[in-house]
Amino acid sequence: MTLKIVFQKPSQHKTLCLGVYEEHHFPLPTQTWDKNLNGFIKDSLKSSKFAGKLNQFLPLFTSKDQQIILIGLGKKTDQNERQWQLIGSSLLNALTASPNGEGAVEIHSLKDQDDAQVNANLALGALLKSWRFEKYFTKKLPEELFSIKKITFCTSTPDASEKVFKPLSQLAEGVFLTRTVVTEPANVMTPESLAKIAESLKKEGIKVDILGEKELKKLGLNALLGVGQGSNKESKLAVMRWEGGPKKEAPIAFIGKGVTFDSGGISIKPATNMEDMKYDMSGAGVVIGLMKNLALRKAKVNVVGVAGLVENMPSGSAQRPGDVVTSMSGQTIEVINTDAEGRLVLADALWYTQEKFKPKLMVDLATLTGAIIICLGNERAGLFTPDEGLRNKLSKAGEKVGELLWPFPLDDAYDKEINSDIADMKNSVTGRGAGSITAAKFLQRFTNNIPWAHLDIAGVSWTQKELPLCAKGATAFGVRLLDRFIADNYESK
Ligand code: BES
Ligand code: MG
Ligand code: ZN
Repeated sequence: MTLKIVFQKPSQHKTLCLGVYEEHHFPLPTQTWDKNLNGFIKDSLKSSKFAGKLNQFLPLFTSKDQQIILIGLGKKTDQNERQWQLIGSSLLNALTASPNGEGAVEIHSLKDQDDAQVNANLALGALLKSWRFEKYFTKKLPEELFSIKKITFCTSTPDASEKVFKPLSQLAEGVFLTRTVVTEPANVMTPESLAKIAESLKKEGIKVDILGEKELKKLGLNALLGVGQGSNKESKLAVMRWEGGPKKEAPIAFIGKGVTFDSGGISIKPATNMEDMKYDMSGAGVVIGLMKNLALRKAKVNVVGVAGLVENMPSGSAQRPGDVVTSMSGQTIEVINTDAEGRLVLADALWYTQEKFKPKLMVDLATLTGAIIICLGNERAGLFTPDEGLRNKLSKAGEKVGELLWPFPLDDAYDKEINSDIADMKNSVTGRGAGSITAAKFLQRFTNNIPWAHLDIAGVSWTQKELPLCAKGATAFGVRLLDRFIADNYESK
């Protein structure tokens, strides 16, 4: 169940959260405020360890039918859009004991702040953090008894807040679609069912084409098809177009790796943690969620989303190590390791995209290498691009939304590593060094020199721990980043 968000003028509420800055400044007053409480709150502040820090809260029972909860707002100087989202997410913790699963919040922004922005971003933070995937539980969860169902944001500008919140709630819908498809297990989220979800975006006004194996064979996407040939599920390419910009303007293209399960194929993975490989379609999931968000908020831009959808399985018909395939670009690839399958899928998806749509730029997203987790852990995604402008725009967008990137080099010297003795290139190198970079260099050979960036999201697509704006599990890392990347750089105002 999704959290209900309401914006309202200040009024009496059973459970009311009040914000307090670290400087102990507590920004009341409202018309409905009982002035007698001011002294009580000041005393409570003095006699507790509550210091107004972010994520701190202090429940105060003021009377039998009203509870006030002081919530930390952090330092006054730290306030920005992201900080308000973090405070918003902390409301869920502060309100866990609310008797009816509801709570109200009143936070008076400082003089130079836009009250509607503050309240809308508080709401977005709470909403993003509240998302859960509960589909497969057949019994009621104990924590559900405590879960918050509705938050009312008390503001002097409810209409303006609502207006700012609208596109943010649409962004959350995109994020939730991504989290849902990534969380679904691989027996449910097959190439075909993921293609169906892409297709369902038609009702939002997106043009969708799903190419099956016959069409892909005809077009020559043999690198992609080789990965899926061991699976009894049909490989697909989902092509989504949102045309919200000027008619003749070249689109921006996003390409996602959609390996619905990566067993490694004949180069099979060890059993430990293999179940994680259901999220090897996160790149495709992000592209699908992003497209939904762009359509919902009617973004003024032309965008193409392409998802390469395959399942990588071992079987009698599976691709073997040593096989040579001819990609759509005509370049031949020796498949050294069937577990380095993502680059094979993306090679054809990238080539197809640039040939078919002549985009002004391409960004691909892929859970491409384990090596990126060795480099960056789960904190940042790897950013690979030869284009300085793109590097800056993507990094900046990431910082604004708190989805951080880190740039890697793409020197020609790394490129030589992927030359093969029998074909134009091989899909895996002998040494263990620079695995994420050599993977990116492989992709680069399929970009046809169109401005391109690659995001290796293997370490950030799934979280084992609670994050500020995300419960454990699928994060949808990339949806908010790319939404911002588009809004700040490519949308006509
Ligand atoms: N899907 C994996 C990468 C991955 C690892 C994603 C962990 C998420 C979490 C990818 O297909 C893969 O298997 N890469 C190999 C490449 C190697 C065989 C060159 C890897 O990283 O070990
Ligand atoms: Mg693999
Ligand atoms: Zn993979």
